[in-house]
Amino acid sequence: MTIEEGEFVAIMGPSGSGKSTLLNMIGVLDRADDGKIVADGHDLLLEKDLSDFRSEIIGFVFQLHNLLPMLSSLENVELPTYELKVSSSERGKRALELLKKVGLEDKAEFSPNKLSGGEKQRVAVARALVNHPPIILADEPTGSLDSDNSQKILKLLKDLHKEENITLIITTHDLSVAKQAGRIVNILDGKVVET
Ligand SMILES: Nc1ncnc2c1ncn2[C@@H]1O[C@H](COP(=O)(O)OP(=O)(O)O)[C@@H](O)[C@H]1O
Ligand SMILES: [Mg+2]
Repeated sequence: MTIEEGEFVAIMGPSGSGKSTLLNMIGVLDRADDGKIVADGHDLLLEKDLSDFRSEIIGFVFQLHNLLPMLSSLENVELPTYELKVSSSERGKRALELLKKVGLEDKAEFSPNKLSGGEKQRVAVARALVNHPPIILADEPTGSLDSDNSQKILKLLKDLHKEENITLIITTHDLSVAKQAGRIVNILDGKVVET
């Protein structure tokens, strides 16, 4: 399948159909051992060192936020910037701006343990954005949230997609979430069945 620059695509499919595997391969958290995946001009099976691609091109939002509890919210958002040449003042500035954007500047110093599920996921979205990646991959970003918080996270992602022309690829079980995408791709047993 082809996903165009600036598209918002929802990947749907039953549990075990390969949604996470697909996102993990695009985000090079996992390497495919066969086939072909090209993203932003990079051949993800052939290129050996994709660490720059991973930190500059891809922002990843996990289903279970994956924040580090020993760091503050602000420090969690700052983490991906250590992969790039970013000064410490710029790092702090960017992270705080993003926490503002997700409505959590007043909780910058809080440990993620002290945040609600929806707030944790908003910090995770801020972290995914801190290196200004053109592609955001979000694996069931609303999967562990109530409908109110799901809507908030979705609106946040949708606004970013619109305002900054970010390519947004999310996986979801929830048709009401998927319907807000420009296109829905259904997969079953690792194959696209309908788009
Ligand atoms: N690295 C891997 N190598 C081989 N098989 C995998 C790997 N990761 C996941 N799988 C298998 O691929 C299938 C799809 O899993 P997954 O992508 O997690 O599905 P989903 O996210 O749609 O629930 C499952 O059967 C899973 O066990
Ligand atoms: Mg999954």
